[in-house]
Amino acid sequence: MLTSALVVFLGATAAAARSLPSTGIRWTDCSKNVPVSDITFNASALNLTSLPSNLHCGQLDVPMDYSKPFCDENMITLGVAMVRAAKSKGALFFNPGGSDAGVVVAWEVALNLSNAFDGLTNFDLLVMDVRGTYSSNPLNVSLETFAGISGPYPTNETEFDAVKNASAVVIQSWIDNSSPPGIIEHVGTREVVQDYESMRKALGYDKVNFLGASQGGSRAAQYAVTYPHRVENFVLDASAPHGLSIYDQAQDHIAALSRLVLRADAYCQSNSSCPFNSQGKGGVPKVSPSVCFPLLEYSLILNFKAINQIIATAKETPYFIPSCENSTTCSPYIADLDIRSGLQGALLGSPDFPAIFEAINSTLAGDASAFVSPPPTIEDVVAMPLLCNDYVVDQPSTKIMNAFINTGVLPEAQNSTQVTVYTPGMKVAPISDPYKVPTGPKAGDVDSGEVVEIPF
Ligand SMILES: *[C@@H]1O[C@H](CO)[C@@H](O)[C@H](O)[C@H]1NC(C)=O
Ligand SMILES: *[C@@H]1O[C@H](CO)[C@@H](O)[C@H](O)[C@H]1NC(C)=O
Ligand SMILES: *[C@@H]1O[C@H](CO)[C@@H](O)[C@H](O)[C@H]1NC(C)=O
Ligand SMILES: *[C@@H]1O[C@H](CO)[C@@H](O)[C@H](O)[C@H]1NC(C)=O
Ligand SMILES: *[C@@H]1O[C@H](CO)[C@@H](O)[C@H](O)[C@H]1NC(C)=O
Ligand SMILES: *[C@@H]1O[C@H](CO)[C@@H](O)[C@H](O)[C@H]1NC(C)=O
Ligand SMILES: *[C@@H]1O[C@H](CO)[C@@H](O)[C@H](O)[C@H]1NC(C)=O
Ligand SMILES: *[C@@H]1O[C@H](CO)[C@@H](O)[C@H](O)[C@H]1NC(C)=O
Ligand SMILES: *[C@@H]1O[C@H](CO)[C@@H](O)[C@H](O)[C@H]1NC(C)=O
Ligand SMILES: *[C@@H]1O[C@H](CO)[C@@H](O)[C@H](O)[C@H]1NC(C)=O
Repeated sequence: MLTSALVVFLGATAAAARSLPSTGIRWTDCSKNVPVSDITFNASALNLTSLPSNLHCGQLDVPMDYSKPFCDENMITLGVAMVRAAKSKGALFFNPGGSDAGVVVAWEVALNLSNAFDGLTNFDLLVMDVRGTYSSNPLNVSLETFAGISGPYPTNETEFDAVKNASAVVIQSWIDNSSPPGIIEHVGTREVVQDYESMRKALGYDKVNFLGASQGGSRAAQYAVTYPHRVENFVLDASAPHGLSIYDQAQDHIAALSRLVLRADAYCQSNSSCPFNSQGKGGVPKVSPSVCFPLLEYSLILNFKAINQIIATAKETPYFIPSCENSTTCSPYIADLDIRSGLQGALLGSPDFPAIFEAINSTLAGDASAFVSPPPTIEDVVAMPLLCNDYVVDQPSTKIMNAFINTGVLPEAQNSTQVTVYTPGMKVAPISDPYKVPTGPKAGDVDSGEVVEIPF
């Protein structure tokens, strides 16, 4: 993993040494610019001598600071990959959000490892690594330095100060060790939007379509505001509300997670095969608005007996996972933080309540293997300054998005178990009482043990 990251980075450095920045894309040999492996992409399993011919890899030199003259010291090299259509309907820019890897998405699509763009293969799909990440001048911090802030949540002011101090060390390290000097001042949405415009120009498209997920939605929205005459069909999926203060976002996030726990509790109460069915209602979440966790996952603060019990146990003594002892792919100890963030991940998107109950029930019995996660990697932490809340893409809405990108016709209002479409002028209904909405697979709840086809 580290090896290929280094190769990509050195490639960018070599480009930066050229005497004059070019304004066009430099098409490169994809087999020499392979993205870093991750959970879904195994670079070493590829046959690099027979890569698909519709996959194109490139680099574009752009100013680091767009307000200053373009020169070697003021230059960033953006890594980009495209999947070109045989008969193109135009450009489709995709941004997966936050500091998520971009270029690898185009590889996965070209190699048929992802079907996320089925129905959109008539477009030239363009994905770039946003500046500061992966093949686009990645910010630089060591895992050792980062370890200072990846511990448990602070529980009192002294601990909070220690995390604050450690955060300052990490941020200083990003500032001191990233290249070119000063880049950390120029990794905002403003610059990313200009990078997309540079990319559009370099490729010669008159207008672009854009699919932005999460923070990618904010970037696409900002692009549309800045370059309205370049906009074809734009989809902003789960666009992160950057106008909200981090404090308000944290409150919303905690409230949303707490409601999901109550939905889980309601599901359990209405289903006798739930292991906690006999224990009665779980109780009301106690949300403490005074807690703020910079750079860490938001906390799950709730009063749900079984969950509290396993978190308390893990805090006292982390659960041990024998099969992960000596492993390089998983950590053998499950601490309270792992359980909190594991539950948070499981509750987001389309939660599988039975699977969540099974995980809690086995952990109560001493087997916490459901919460095993891979150890942190440098790729995960490199671009944390760009990170924001992320959400999982849900399938029925994906079909609606694809239809809109293809036709440009806004979807009709609809209200099904999986998706609600609001049309202009419609108001969002108040959020219903979690104990008063239907539960179970027929009401749209996921159950990995009993797959129910959701009509769409
Ligand atoms: C990646 O592919 C290589 C070569 O096929 C294989 O040996 C290795 O086990 C794979 N790694 C993972 C994590 O699947
Ligand atoms: C890789 O692809 C080339 C060209 O198609 C082929 O000749 C070669 O046998 C492949 N190698 C492997 C290990 O599959
Ligand atoms: C991916 O699937 C398409 C359609 O089935 C096919 O034409 C193409 O050759 C496949 N590409 C690869 C790399 O397998
Ligand atoms: C904060 O918690 C730590 C243990 O985690 C303890 O050692 C310390 O005394 C506490 N400080 C205060 C001010 O409560
Ligand atoms: C944090 O840093 C400040 C300033 O350097 C120092 O006074 C303080 O003792 C540190 N606090 C902790 C908990 O490390
Ligand atoms: C990252 O920073 C370290 C110092 O912490 C430095 O030794 C290393 O060369 C830097 N890596 C790159 C690719 O700039
Ligand atoms: C919950 O765990 C207990 C103890 O491990 C086990 O006996 C029971 O079958 C589990 N219940 C369910 C519904 O999975
Ligand atoms: C891990 O390594 C230690 C020391 O070599 C050994 O005693 C232990 O059995 C190993 N554990 C596993 C699960 O392989
Ligand atoms: C969708 O249906 C729910 C439940 O029937 C209702 O509360 C809500 O107001 C509806 N929303 C819209 C936009 O029609
Ligand atoms: C009850 O829970 C089980 C799994 O624990 C699930 O398979 C079943 O579909 C659920 N039934 C209802 C009506 O929710």
